[in-house]
Amino acid sequence: MGVLKSAPVISYISFLALYFSFYTVALTSSNSLQDDFINCLHQNTNVDFPLEKAFFSPERNASMFIEVLNLTAQNQRYLTKSMPKPGFIFKPVHETHVQASIICSKKLGIHLRVRSGGHDYEGVSYVSQIEIPFIIDLSKLRQINVDIEDNSVWVEAGATTGELYYRISEKSKTHGCPAGIYPSLGIGGHITGGAYGSLMRKYGLAADNVLDAKLVDVNGKLLDRTAMGEDTFWAIRGGAGGSFGIILSWKIKLVPVPKTLTVFTVTKTLDQDAGFKILSKWQQVADKLVEELFLRVFFTIAGNNENRTVAMSYIGQFLGEKGNLMEVMSKGFPELGLTLEDCIEMNWIESIMYSSGFSTTTPPPPEVLLQAKSPLGEVYFKAKSDFAKEPIPVLGLKGMIKKILEEEAAVMIWTPYGGMMDKIPESEIPFPHRSGTSFMIQYYRSWSDTEKRPDMRIKWIRELYNYMTPYVSSNPRQAYVNYRDLDLGQNNNLKTSFNQAQVWGAKYFKDNFNRLVKIKTKVDPENFFRHEQSIPPLY
Ligand SMILES: Cc1cc2nc3c(=O)[nH]c(=O)nc-3n(C[C@H](O)[C@H](O)[C@H](O)COP(=O)(O)OP(=O)(O)OC[C@H]3O[C@@H](n4cnc5c(N)ncnc54)[C@H](O)[C@@H]3O)c2cc1C
Ligand SMILES: *[C@@H]1O[C@H](CO)[C@@H](O)[C@H](O)[C@H]1NC(C)=O
Ligand SMILES: *[C@@H]1O[C@H](CO)[C@@H](O)[C@H](O)[C@H]1NC(C)=O
Ligand SMILES: *[C@@H]1O[C@H](CO)[C@@H](O)[C@H](O)[C@H]1NC(C)=O
Repeated sequence: MGVLKSAPVISYISFLALYFSFYTVALTSSNSLQDDFINCLHQNTNVDFPLEKAFFSPERNASMFIEVLNLTAQNQRYLTKSMPKPGFIFKPVHETHVQASIICSKKLGIHLRVRSGGHDYEGVSYVSQIEIPFIIDLSKLRQINVDIEDNSVWVEAGATTGELYYRISEKSKTHGCPAGIYPSLGIGGHITGGAYGSLMRKYGLAADNVLDAKLVDVNGKLLDRTAMGEDTFWAIRGGAGGSFGIILSWKIKLVPVPKTLTVFTVTKTLDQDAGFKILSKWQQVADKLVEELFLRVFFTIAGNNENRTVAMSYIGQFLGEKGNLMEVMSKGFPELGLTLEDCIEMNWIESIMYSSGFSTTTPPPPEVLLQAKSPLGEVYFKAKSDFAKEPIPVLGLKGMIKKILEEEAAVMIWTPYGGMMDKIPESEIPFPHRSGTSFMIQYYRSWSDTEKRPDMRIKWIRELYNYMTPYVSSNPRQAYVNYRDLDLGQNNNLKTSFNQAQVWGAKYFKDNFNRLVKIKTKVDPENFFRHEQSIPPLY
């Protein structure tokens, strides 16, 4: 990480200082600012549309404003009363609205945030802790064009993964798309950070399968891959959202899926003797089993006061029939004791429903995927991520379980790597977690609005993270940018330093961070697209 020097820090700080003093003045009367903005949009678009209807502000209608703000925001922690609110929300219905928004936002000096599906773990798409923004909410731009002949799909940023999968399955039962597991994710933000799902060991990330994109740049220009150039096209496929422009749509390669897949869930608790043995074996084999098998481990707390324990659910998806799966498992992972009765055969879209957590006994029709609701419901949460390179020894696991049992409810998910993830070079796209990674860990603590001490829940997850230090990647300790974690550092207030960005930058992107900074410096030197963890330009 020696390429970036500390010299630019001073100018970066004074630059931010300039911005902040400016914004406090600019947003004292946000209603008239919104009117100025709408006027400016009218002058810069030639689409006949009643723009006023696409604006939501507390001055116009406070309850509707909160409703709209709330609608796709996935982390209730960022919706509480004390959280800063945007000045207004704009829902463009046409590409030129987005282009004009950038021109007008610059002209009027209003900071902009962009939201597609609103799943950002730290809410940076709808909450700014630095300055008062307005939100461009892309939820009205959600067209999907599946082209089976061309083996590709164009999907607009505001569409969800669930809609994407559903539209593909409408046209073919043997095509799929290797994006995220939950159906409510916004395509716009999701793919900018990599986007892994149950096809990752076979086909890599969604970002690995992007063929083209439409991006509105800092000048309001609409660019495709050729027009933006290979540097920018590289940066947007994994360099995370909100740094390089606004993605309007992605063109993604479709991948083949078999007519019949097999899914299963086998749950073990630690009071069963074999618990640690099975988990140890999983750590040795999960990234080495055939690429057709994606076998995750979900840790939850089970039992009641007397017999509280950690339950481990081994949730598998296999691209093939159950007979073949049984062979793979009896050879590679007999300790789990998978039986034919555990195996459920289904097609790809049904497997999406299964992994999303919809009921398997009475599954709703796949049309629920169009409703874009997260099966998790409304939760307050804090999460963190890690990457493991080698098995965690039993002694380490025991301490981890002990720590988990301190809480009433906690979830941890281990996701196997290997397969295609090993074959793609680290610098192919900004997402760097490739060969040598055995599995990713996600720590997740959620709570409801009755929780009295959310700060204690956050404190606990930080302690668990500290406890895990010796067992996971180091120098840098890697993290998944789509599981944004502001504990790792942020472009915050005037304390921001470029050095700090290098720290979280290395965790998310390893050496690719340097190239991201270079590209940022070239395409957005004034840092127009910015948030708590956006890629900073070099000054
Ligand atoms: C319940 C849940 C399940 C998840 N499951 C998975 C999973 O299976 N696999 C996985 O890889 N990740 C998963 N994630 C993480 C998810 O990929 C990220 O949160 C991702 O950023 C979500 O994209 P979004 O558009 O919904 O979020 P948003 O909050 O709208 O955006 C996220 C970031 O991207 C920026 N952004 C949004 N739209 C655009 C755009 N059009 N152009 C440029 N920048 C933009 C935002 O400003 C923000 O910085 C999950 C998250 C949640 C909450
Ligand atoms: C404000 O929005 C709510 C919906 O949230 C609606 O019921 C109400 O009629 C609106 N009020 C006005 C004055 O438009
Ligand atoms: C957001 O909306 C949901 C209902 O959709 C509600 O349960 C929640 O309390 C709302 N949050 C806030 C902060 O208004
Ligand atoms: C704990 O005990 C209860 C009743 O004693 C039982 O129903 C439950 O299955 C047990 N849980 C575990 C995880 O053993």
